Amino acid sequence: MKNKFPWYFRIPLLFFGIWGLMEFFIDGGDMPAFIAYPITQAFLVFILLLLIGIELILNAIENVMFQTLSPEAQERYMAATSKPIVSFNWLKRWYLKMLGHDKVSPDEVIELDHNYDGIRELDNNLPPWWVYMFYATMIFGVVYLVRFHIVKEYDQTLEFQQEMAQAQIDIEQYKKTAKNLVDANTVTLLTEAADLTAGKAIYDSNCVVCHAADGGGGIGPNLTDQHWILGGGIKKVFTTISEGGRDGKGMIAWKQNLKPLEMAQVASYVLGMQGTTPANPKEADGDLLWPTADVAANPTE
Ligand code: HEC
Repeated sequence: MKNKFPWYFRIPLLFFGIWGLMEFFIDGGDMPAFIAYPITQAFLVFILLLLIGIELILNAIENVMFQTLSPEAQERYMAATSKPIVSFNWLKRWYLKMLGHDKVSPDEVIELDHNYDGIRELDNNLPPWWVYMFYATMIFGVVYLVRFHIVKEYDQTLEFQQEMAQAQIDIEQYKKTAKNLVDANTVTLLTEAADLTAGKAIYDSNCVVCHAADGGGGIGPNLTDQHWILGGGIKKVFTTISEGGRDGKGMIAWKQNLKPLEMAQVASYVLGMQGTTPANPKEADGDLLWPTADVAANPTE
């Protein structure tokens, strides 16, 4: 059993098995546990040392037991255990072949008749691994020459442009999935119910004290009318929420507390209050009208 399953299988198998279990039971979020919790690396090293230690102890015990056997029993034991299930003989043979050791015999070392101050030179064959690599570079060179100097498949400039174009596509793709990347230039009025519900929640917990639950206003201006101090429309309102109002008026820059998506949601919710009638409306403030006549006629913004 022992030799059928030698240590160089047993230790990695147990080690990676334990590692796998660890990853299964410890939740590292979207990272593997051994990165999320560096302490587990120490644990793994400990396990590895432990496995090696156990292996060494077992080996020592086996050795001692072996010495206590009678000579015949020792022989029987050797016969039973000497054949490992996998042998790497072919690998060894190949390795020696690549080194060229099968050709070199100690008797036929060819010594050149150079002798420089006692430094002599042997005329050994080049090791086959080196020769094969050299051939490989020659083939590579020819293929390269044909592809890039004769056929001119592509050059670095084209490669660069292709990669940049692909990157541009990837960025667009990413932006579509990552709503949080919105800023004042890219923000659009959100209309999905989920976004507006989230916007209402943000409004209710942050804005009601100054703007009233129905947007009628208080310390802050009325948000339901067409008059704006800082400008209406989703982009201006987003900017006001993000950067705050005029100094000393009390409207802080919310970008420190809210994520871009949250600001877009609450801005959309605020604009949804346009035209509603609050219970105690504060009188209209600001001379910027929104929607302006041309946007009202053509409501795309
Ligand atoms: C501490 C009180 C206060 C809180 C809280 C507050 N605001 Fe304001 N808000 C103001 C004041 C005051 C102004 C007027 C700023 C100015 O005149 O420059 C204002 C202006 C605004 C404007 C621009 C109105 C216009 O006419 O241009 C918007 C939009 C706005 N607030 C949205 C919000 C949102 C959304 C929140 C919650 C995230 C919020 N505010 C929280 C006090 C507040």
